[in-house]
This record gives sequence, structure tokens and C-alpha cells, in this order.
Amino acid sequence: MNHCVIGLQWGDEGKGKVVDFLAEDSDIVVRYSGGSNAGHTVVVGNTKFALHLLPSGSVRQEIICVIANAVVLAPDVLIEEIDTLAGKNITLGGRLFISESAHVVLDYHKREDQLREESLGKNKIGTTIRGIGPCYADKVGRSYAVRMGDFGDLKKLKAKLQAIVEYKNKIFTAVYNAEPIDAGEIFEKCKSYADRLLPFIIDTTEFLHKSIKDGKSILFEGAQGSLLDLDHGTFPYVTSSNSSSLGMPAGCGVPAKMVDKYLGVAKAYTTRVGEGPFPTEQDNEIGQYIREKGNEYGTTTGRPRRCGWFDAVAVSYAAKIGDIDSVVLTHLDTLTGLKELKICRAYKIGAEEKTFFPANINRLSQACPVYETLPGWDEDIIAATKFDELPSNAQNYICRIEEHIGREVGIIGAGPERKQMIFR
Ligand code: GDP
Ligand code: IMO
Ligand code: MG
Repeated sequence: MNHCVIGLQWGDEGKGKVVDFLAEDSDIVVRYSGGSNAGHTVVVGNTKFALHLLPSGSVRQEIICVIANAVVLAPDVLIEEIDTLAGKNITLGGRLFISESAHVVLDYHKREDQLREESLGKNKIGTTIRGIGPCYADKVGRSYAVRMGDFGDLKKLKAKLQAIVEYKNKIFTAVYNAEPIDAGEIFEKCKSYADRLLPFIIDTTEFLHKSIKDGKSILFEGAQGSLLDLDHGTFPYVTSSNSSSLGMPAGCGVPAKMVDKYLGVAKAYTTRVGEGPFPTEQDNEIGQYIREKGNEYGTTTGRPRRCGWFDAVAVSYAAKIGDIDSVVLTHLDTLTGLKELKICRAYKIGAEEKTFFPANINRLSQACPVYETLPGWDEDIIAATKFDELPSNAQNYICRIEEHIGREVGIIGAGPERKQMIFR
């Protein structure tokens, strides 16, 4: 079986935990898009891993890990992650494969990201400042891009970096009135990156196709969430890649039909980091309750996450464009103790009631959520392992979500730990 795990909201749905769990029955886990803007948490007993570039299967020593073509890779972040795992006696040698086509995020990308956000003031996107947008822009622009395969020829890379930095410095000084950067310094860093990472770099498309032929079970790990998709999300408040499942085939060169099951992960409520419309946001004591109880602070940036009610219009849209077979509903435990819960079943836009999500932010900004209100529960659910063990109000809440999104909820999250999962 090949699975693909996708976020159905604005990211941080709990994909890391789900991927780690499913990895137990997989041979290979593939990250195929995004970069170190992602922060995927895996909790094993008392140990917490925060992964940005390594696939979440990496904490299992027996799993093969692939970082595929469409990932934008910050070598410093990856090396730190490899070293952190090594400190916990988890090694990557011989089981991590990085695409030679993956684009490299360098210091000037992070700088550009930061300078642009600062210059935008209140119109900023609220990016993670990890250089994601600038690196993808260079990839599309082609002329000033560095790929992992370029580490194989340092002489050529040196000349390339000279030209790139010359170009970037014109922008830094003229547009942003900022200090120029030094090409030599960046090249020295690249030399050390090449030293560490060259042994991992291969043609991952060839590797994946051979693995499929050999009958290996592959798990594709999405990053970000479907509503942050560059083409189908809430543009411009999105990331710079196709973060819905539509990015999977393009991201790693494996056809979508090779995936047997698409699993969509959604929280039992909604969160968002950064700017952009969020119809069900609760900028009040309810949002605060969820933030504190659910520990809703960014894995990558530590920013407090904006919190709100479950938005069935948004999740239903993400499930449709992602061809989702089954939903994993995480953080049900976080809602324990709330007297009543709301599910947004439609949007009122002007005189019209809509159930199809308007990704266009001009329309989305005018959307007033139409809620269905349900009773909450007080019983602690953290130890539940079966659906029948959940309080009847919790069962009812899940069933209503299923009806609104038109998809089954196959797995429920009842806590951050690997084993805190309830199966239907
Ligand atoms: P990802 O980016 O989708 O992998 O999600 P993050 O790791 O950024 O954020 C999800 C957070 O929720 C992490 O702190 C997880 O440990 C935690 N988490 C995941 N599932 C559950 C759950 O069912 N209940 C609770 N309480 N926490 C969860
Ligand atoms: P995971 O994989 C939540 C958001 C940023 C910002 C917008 C653009 O952990 O779910 P970027 O740095 O990508 O240019 O920022 O996208 N964003 C995420 N939000 N989870 C993520 O990843 C995110 N990756 C990017 O907060 O609003
Ligand atoms: Mg995250």
C-alpha cells in the first residue's frame, strides 16, 4: 500500500504524528514539497522531535527517507537535524536520499524574505522567514538557481554563486537600502554543505520508481496545508508551493495513481499562523482556551497560532481538491471542557449561502460563518483507544463533521503521543 498524508487546513494539523505512526508499516517515507517552513512534531514517549526537512519517518531507524525534487532545502537546517538525531542515536547514513534536483535555500534567500516582509509593513504575508518564497522564485526564474546536484562541481558552483550574489546585491542595495552580501562567505558554507551532504544526493525519481517495481510500500508526506497551496489556497496568504496533494506527483515524479490511499489530516478545530482571512477565527477567550490547551504555538517560529472553530466548508474543499479517501481528526482532546462547540457548515456572502469554499480572498474576506452548535463534553478522552469509549457528545461531534465534509473520519487524535490514536 502507498499512502499520501496531506494537511486539510492551514498547516500544523498533526501530519508529523500521523506519518510517524503510518511509517511503522512502510518501507520509505518521502517529503516532496516545501522546505524548512514546515515543522512536524513526533512524540515518542517522553522524547519530542521537531522535524523541518527530514521526513517524519526518520525517527524510525529502519525507514528509508527521501527528500524529493520539489523540496527547497536549507542545508544548514538539514545538517542540524541530522546531528540532532545522531545525538539521540538515530543515524541517517545509507538510508537518506536527497534529490539532485532539489533547490538549495541559501542565506540570501532568507535575507530577501526578511527584507521583503519588513518593507511590506502591514501588508506582509507573515512568512516563516525561511527563504521559501525567494528560493522558489529563483527556481521558476531559472537563471540564478542552485540545486543540490551543483554541490558535485564546486568550481562551477563558485562561478555561479559569484554571478548570483552580484545580482542579489543590486537588489539588496538599490531596492532595500541594505548591506551587500559576500559571495566568498556563501561559497565557503557551500563547500562544507557539499562535504556533509554529497553522500546522500542521488536521482530520487529513479530510486522511487525502482522501489515501486520492487514492491516497496511508500508513504508520501505532505507539508503545509491545502489552504496554503499556491494555486488553490488563499492567495497571496499562501506558501510558494503546491501544498495540497496536487503537489505530490510533480514534487517527486511518481504518478498520483500510484497512491492507494490519500489521508487528509485536520484538527477538530482550526488554526492558522501568519496573515490572511480566517472566517471561523475566535480572537477571544475561546481561541485563547484552545491555544493554551492545545499548545498552539508554532513548531518552526514559536508564533502563537490563531485559533477558531472547525470550518467544514474549508475542509470539505481541501478534501475535494485532494481526492481524500479518509480523514484523520487530531486534537479532539483539546476540545474537552468546552460547554458547546460550533461547526461552520456554510458561509453567508452577501445574500447568498455558500458551501463551496471561495479561495479568492476578496470573497472569503466577506464570508460570515453559518454555524451548527453542538453540546461539548467534560470527560477526559486522553486514554480512549476505541470510538465507543468516547463520550456520546464527542462521537456525535465527529459524525456531524463527517456529514458536513462528506468523508469518513478513520482515525482520531486524542493526544500528542504516537499511540494516542483512536481507530474507527
Ligand atoms: P504538522 O506540521 O502538521 O506536523 O503539525 P505540528 O507538529 O506543527 O503541530 C501539531 C501539534 O499538535 C504538535 O505539537 C503535536 O505534537 C500535537 N498533536 C498532534 N496530534 C495531537 C492530538 O491528537 N492531540 C494533542 N493534544 N496534540 C496533538
Ligand atoms: P507545516 O508543514 C503552518 C505559512 C506561514 C505563512 C505562509 C507563508 O508545519 O504544517 P512561507 O514561509 O511558507 O513563505 O510562509 O505559510 N506556513 C505554515 N503554516 N504550518 C506550516 O507548515 C507552514 N508553512 C508555511 O506561516 O502564513
Ligand atoms: Mg507544523
